[in-house]
Amino acid sequence: MENQQGLTVPRSFLTAMAVCFIALPVLVILVPGIHHESSISDVLGRLYKLHPVGQGAAHNDSNAHNLSDDGLFAPGFDEKSCLSRFQHRLYRKSERKPSAYLLSKLRSYEHLHRRCGLYTDPYNRTLTVIRSGEDVDDTTTGSITACKYLIWHPVNGLGNRMISLASTFLYALLTDRVLLADLTQDMADLFCEPFLGSPWILPLEFPLRNLARNGKLRFAHSAGKALKNSTLKVTPPDSPAKAPPFLFINLYQGKYADEPSSFYCDESQSFLRRVPCLSLLSDQYFVPSLFLIKSFKKEAIRLFPEKEAVYHHLVHYLMLPSNQAWELITRFYEANLAKADERIGLQVRVFEEQFIPILTDKILTCLQNQTHLPKIDNKKPKLSSSSSSPRNQTPTTTTTAVLITSLYPQFYQNLSTMYSNKQTVSGEVIKFYQPSHEGKQRFEDGEHNMKALVEIYLLSMCEKLVISADSTFGYAAQGLGANRAWILLRPGYGFLDSCVRDLSVEPCFQWPPPSRNCIGDRNNSGSSRHDDVTENVAYLKHCEDWKSGVKLVDVHEEL
Ligand SMILES: *[C@@H]1O[C@H](CO)[C@@H](O)[C@H](O)[C@H]1NC(C)=O
Ligand SMILES: *[C@@H]1O[C@H](CO)[C@@H](O)[C@H](O)[C@H]1NC(C)=O
Ligand SMILES: *[C@@H]1O[C@H](CO)[C@@H](O)[C@H](O)[C@H]1NC(C)=O
Ligand SMILES: *[C@@H]1O[C@H](CO)[C@@H](O)[C@H](O)[C@H]1NC(C)=O
Ligand SMILES: *[C@@H]1O[C@H](CO)[C@@H](O)[C@H](O)[C@H]1NC(C)=O
Ligand SMILES: *[C@@H]1O[C@H](CO)[C@@H](O)[C@H](O)[C@H]1NC(C)=O
Ligand SMILES: *[C@@H]1O[C@H](CO)[C@@H](O)[C@H](O)[C@H]1NC(C)=O
Repeated sequence: MENQQGLTVPRSFLTAMAVCFIALPVLVILVPGIHHESSISDVLGRLYKLHPVGQGAAHNDSNAHNLSDDGLFAPGFDEKSCLSRFQHRLYRKSERKPSAYLLSKLRSYEHLHRRCGLYTDPYNRTLTVIRSGEDVDDTTTGSITACKYLIWHPVNGLGNRMISLASTFLYALLTDRVLLADLTQDMADLFCEPFLGSPWILPLEFPLRNLARNGKLRFAHSAGKALKNSTLKVTPPDSPAKAPPFLFINLYQGKYADEPSSFYCDESQSFLRRVPCLSLLSDQYFVPSLFLIKSFKKEAIRLFPEKEAVYHHLVHYLMLPSNQAWELITRFYEANLAKADERIGLQVRVFEEQFIPILTDKILTCLQNQTHLPKIDNKKPKLSSSSSSPRNQTPTTTTTAVLITSLYPQFYQNLSTMYSNKQTVSGEVIKFYQPSHEGKQRFEDGEHNMKALVEIYLLSMCEKLVISADSTFGYAAQGLGANRAWILLRPGYGFLDSCVRDLSVEPCFQWPPPSRNCIGDRNNSGSSRHDDVTENVAYLKHCEDWKSGVKLVDVHEEL
């Protein structure tokens, strides 16, 4: 079982996986593609009874052990508690290297997270301050030894959550805050604990946990309101600067009306720095705008000299699949995708159902024209189903696996019917797989999120990737694999091409703030002109699929 695509999968690992698949006929139900009774969720329960986590996988393989060693993770993690931390590199061809500065920043962050972690003395003192509701100054929580916190709240689908959590963590790194994530019931089982020795999950009894869910409270403690006040107020130079004990920052879909875009201004950041606890809500990848804040810029660039790897490193560090998720990911991969010579991931997000019939044609054009999926050769005789089995193929036949992820079954049904038992012009064998089709997106549903995570990971393991325009699910997968995707353009918007190559693997920030809205940017005329955010910023470009959005790109020196 050799992999010709250069994936460095140790033979012992594959053998171990092969053995466990032969021993587990139930998995064959997953192959190929859709069976209405046996999507991942249905198999989930049965899988674990048959095959407890930790056996069969190569978690103690000495090679696998070594693969985690690019310094991203602190030494000392227990392998069994999070197998994906040690194994995820087995499934990827190329990896980008984190900068030495990022590694040292992560180590000092981990130290901070332990020192200020749940139920430590500084944490307890901060809770007291929050509960008192009284303004603080630099002396309240014990000056420089005090800890400051940043609470992340989930909103919208898993793609939105992953890109916003990564952004929030970068904000925590840039402001020396401790990140606590409100991983409500529907996300509790998805990820491993990222920080060695101190949990990151916001406790249920944390006083601000309901802030994000309560509009009245949100408004009462809005950072936007406080920021407006703070810029009006003139503090006497020798009096200690006061700040509220906590504030709520609403960056949800760029709703700048109740949260001014001045969040991204230096004057706001110097005020927010004094607030012990910030609670943040966003469904966006707001990293690009963090790079534009003058007081953050130098540090951000030093952490990420390679701009296109920001999300990639953050997501790998922070959001490793739990053992339960990893088991599903690796099993599906080994059963369906591992044997193919090439894997094409296809994520189809349907925004308007009336376009489903048009979409099929567009998908086919994109797959054939851009990812070089071979066309069907109508002149060659049909294959009988037995002759298409791998056993009867000559060893030179190459196989391409197309992994489809969609809430709808139509695309899988159509494409697999089209290709089944037909010969292709190149002689390649094409197989289609779809792990699940949920019909519609569901929120507050842990199992739905688990499937979403499994599919995001599987997509990221494909050598070629086609994602849907405007979908954060696709963004999350592309950045994870650090593999530049083709974007299926949305029908009904006048695009001529079916798809376009993305500019970079970074997620798109769909709602960047208007530029030059900070005090420092304004001319003597006092007007805040809304110029193009990307103007004069070489590493920022407008997204191909969402023209008012922006994304980080690497600048390659032109001669
Ligand atoms: C895995 O390897 C470590 C040493 O690298 C060893 O201490 C541990 O007992 C092994 N675990 C199993 C289950 O073999
Ligand atoms: C990884 O492998 C290399 C060479 O095989 C070895 O020199 C190095 O010490 C190993 N690292 C760890 C963490 O085991
Ligand atoms: C912090 O508070 C918790 C209970 O609220 C308590 O169990 C813990 O011991 C306190 N930590 C310290 C360092 O006092
Ligand atoms: C803003 O300033 C007004 C007037 O000084 C005050 O009544 C209000 O409480 C302030 N709001 C906040 C959030 O600080
Ligand atoms: C697949 O889609 C094509 C193009 O829209 C259509 O002509 C064909 O009938 C569809 N086939 C199936 C099996 O749905
Ligand atoms: C096929 O790809 C070429 C570029 O490789 C592009 O110019 C052309 O528009 C594409 N055709 C369609 C139908 O998308
Ligand atoms: C002020 O605005 C003018 C045009 O309105 C522009 O040319 C100039 O660069 C601006 N100055 C600054 C400091 O932004």
